[in-house]
Amino acid sequence: MKIKNICCIGAGYVGGPTMSIIAQKNPKIKVHVVDMNTNKIAAWNSENLENLPVYEPGLSKVVKEARGRNLFFSTDVNKHIDEADMIFISVNTPTKTTGEGKGYAADLKYVEACAKQIAKVSKSNKIIVEKSTVPVRTSEKIKQILRLNNTDVDFQILSNPEFLAEGTAMRDLEIPDRVLIGGDDTIKGQKAVNSLVKIYSSWVPKENILTTNLWSSELSKLTANAFLAQRISSINSLSELCEKTGADIEEVSKAIGMDLRIGSSFLKTSVGFGGSCFQKDILNLVYIARSEGLEKVANYWEQVLIINEHQRDRISKKIIDLIRKEKLEPKILLLGWAFKKNTNDTRESAAIYVTNNLLNKNIGIDVYDPKVKQSQVDFDLSNINADYDKSLVNFIEEPFLNVSEYNIIAIMTEWDEFKDYNWEKIYKKINNPSYIFDGRNILEIEKIKKIGFNYIGLGRN
Ligand code: UDX
Ligand code: UDX
Repeated sequence: MKIKNICCIGAGYVGGPTMSIIAQKNPKIKVHVVDMNTNKIAAWNSENLENLPVYEPGLSKVVKEARGRNLFFSTDVNKHIDEADMIFISVNTPTKTTGEGKGYAADLKYVEACAKQIAKVSKSNKIIVEKSTVPVRTSEKIKQILRLNNTDVDFQILSNPEFLAEGTAMRDLEIPDRVLIGGDDTIKGQKAVNSLVKIYSSWVPKENILTTNLWSSELSKLTANAFLAQRISSINSLSELCEKTGADIEEVSKAIGMDLRIGSSFLKTSVGFGGSCFQKDILNLVYIARSEGLEKVANYWEQVLIINEHQRDRISKKIIDLIRKEKLEPKILLLGWAFKKNTNDTRESAAIYVTNNLLNKNIGIDVYDPKVKQSQVDFDLSNINADYDKSLVNFIEEPFLNVSEYNIIAIMTEWDEFKDYNWEKIYKKINNPSYIFDGRNILEIEKIKKIGFNYIGLGRN
């Protein structure tokens, strides 16, 4: 089937950037991104490209080129489903908060609602692409919903998980390590696979487009994230051991990463991984393994999350203990709220959990982040503790305006600007004794100590 019209349901962190690139690289295909959130669609359509709802380096340039030409953002979901030959489902799949699998399983209510809506509206054959991360065998469920609600048209289901990392999404989309497409092993299924391969081959070399069966594709997405997160938890667990033994985690990380069999990426110790995917996907994997009776497999993967929580908690405890021991003013300057640099996304950010731990001990927090808004900080904290003490949290636009009020600065996100601050100047104004908790090991330890700060990094003394 030659694809002329694409519809993507979900204009979020994944749907927005992915469709922008598909539209940019395939000018003859019309791409409509639809979302039920009218504010979000208005933001995608805003004249001022600074106001796009997703901050991603390089995104606004692509939107500028394609928007209005063959890339459109709309709330008219039914119309664009009806017109499309291919529909991407890119809605969120959060961890279930109620019912069977609560706290572990992925909640597929949005994906299922999309499938129902597609079935209701469709008058012509369509290829449905699962872009959202889903548990293995979800496509079977989508297929059932579509067939049950519409017997007049043919639906082919593909799995095409995203591997883009926020902050580098545009680069990851432009030069992906691989594009993964899973489809049915039938003639129609393979035709559908080829239609999607064709779209990606506009810019991705054929050898980087991997086609598999549906289940392998679905499971590969979950396991790729689990493997990545496992590396971070492995290195984070060793950061604590380094602090006890006098080894330096940066040296250990470099030494093991130079072993080509291990490789150097995802070995950077941190206050803990965040983001919308790692925790959710591992919980999901744990749930699937447990549902299959594989208790030991489930426990193995769950440990990755236990270490992540432990890392956040032990850093919080260090700050709390220091304030107590040195009888310092219970107030800190927190640098960074996003879950990593170059994004305004804060989902599951370690900063939220560390702040919550400190608030529980009545420690005041002044938060600064170059890309996150005050309302987001409030939303995130309310989410984990509806009754959090708002008077203890300030969002600040200028991090060092009142620096004389603090003894402690804690870095949560590895924003480049934090590295480049004039730390000598800050030292002259900050309260003494002064402490820097570097939750990302981004500062030059010798330089910072020489200036006069007490430096507390991770896994290095
Ligand atoms: C994505 C994937 O889709 C998810 O499965 C993956 O694990 C993480 O990344 P993301 O794009 O980050 O999700 O989610 P989000 O930014 O929340 O965007 C989802 C959008 O779908 C929202 O804008 C929401 O309004 C929209 N939506 C949701 C619909 O339009 N209809 C629905 O029924 C549900
Ligand atoms: C991840 C996957 O990388 C991506 O392929 C998938 O599609 C979605 O989930 P994302 O969550 O956007 O992407 O960011 P990622 O770069 O993977 O970082 C996740 C978290 O791990 C961040 O909090 C980051 O700061 C942390 N991290 C990453 C470390 O603590 N150390 C590292 O060495 C790498």
